[in-house]
Amino acid sequence: MPVDPAYDRTAELRTLDATLTGVRGLVASGVTHVPRIFRLPDPEEQLRAQEPPSATVPLIDLGGDRAAVVDAIRQAAAEWGFFQVTGHGVPQEAMAAAVAAVRAFHEADGGEGSDKARLYTREPGKAVKYHCNFDLYESSVANWRDTLYLRMAPDPPASDELPESCRDALFEYAKQVKNLGDTLFELLSEALGLKPSYLNDIDCNQGQIILSHYYPPCPQPELAIGTSRHSDSGFLTILLQDEIGGLQILHEERWVDVTPTPGAFIINIGDLLQLISNDKFSSVEHRVLAKNAEPRVSIACFFSTHFHPASTRMYGPIKELLSEENPPLYKETLVRDYLARYYSVGLDGREKTSLTDFRL
Ligand code: OGA
Ligand code: NI
Repeated sequence: MPVDPAYDRTAELRTLDATLTGVRGLVASGVTHVPRIFRLPDPEEQLRAQEPPSATVPLIDLGGDRAAVVDAIRQAAAEWGFFQVTGHGVPQEAMAAAVAAVRAFHEADGGEGSDKARLYTREPGKAVKYHCNFDLYESSVANWRDTLYLRMAPDPPASDELPESCRDALFEYAKQVKNLGDTLFELLSEALGLKPSYLNDIDCNQGQIILSHYYPPCPQPELAIGTSRHSDSGFLTILLQDEIGGLQILHEERWVDVTPTPGAFIINIGDLLQLISNDKFSSVEHRVLAKNAEPRVSIACFFSTHFHPASTRMYGPIKELLSEENPPLYKETLVRDYLARYYSVGLDGREKTSLTDFRL
């Protein structure tokens, strides 16, 4: 991009931050153009390689025959890194209530004395916070998205730290999704040929962070992005999206839509699970397109233990998966050292560099 002495990016980021109302506040104020801090350097690039795919992300009914479910998960986790699940046991009411609560939080007014103003921060230690782009000052392109952050484990917040409008729904949702996480780690253990409790025994199910995203309508969607391409850092992500769509994953070098499926969760493998599975499972890059449609809500639950301060467990390729023909592909690491590397760059511009850095 040509150098423009009149453009002070940092000042513009600070101005946006100071509103304490994020992208939703911008849209509510009636912007008709995407401000420069959000503009993609090469907007054409996101359109490339978007031919209609012949295949779609696998959909797995967890209520089916166990051996068949384990096989389907093994194949999906290896070839796609993503799958959708039905028959997961989480009540539809709990899912709908969580989406409605997140929408209500983000659509409430900001301004003095509001929950948004009280919670707006990017302080790492806070268990509950709200902000526009966790990496606003590190990334090269701001994303058209605001986020309510909730760390449920370790050290869940006191319930009154969450606004009353979303407290009950999000705590209930967190509990339900933790149970589903435990089940998925059992199935994933079996898919690796390990005993069902293996991944839970090594604490993969321990940390729980819930990001409740809100993607306001974008007046010039082709110039901006909802979430820059990235892979997730933790072990596993359980994602709930509403019916708007926009999530895409990189599959065989093409962007493939993850079509909203009512009642289903989207599951994806994170970097740390790719690492300990020694590449048997793939952590796949994904992104969210900006749209000029109704606002989109998604709720991402990450299992990752980097907030467990005393966690001294080293994670490397699981010994039982190694042999002469399958030598370890990665160094061992502490989860917090892996995450420190991951967060040392903004969401964009990483292209899975963190995982590559730990390759032997
Ligand atoms: C994430 C993510 C996708 C979405 O939070 O890591 O990829 O649909 N979210 O919001
Ligand atoms: Ni993600």
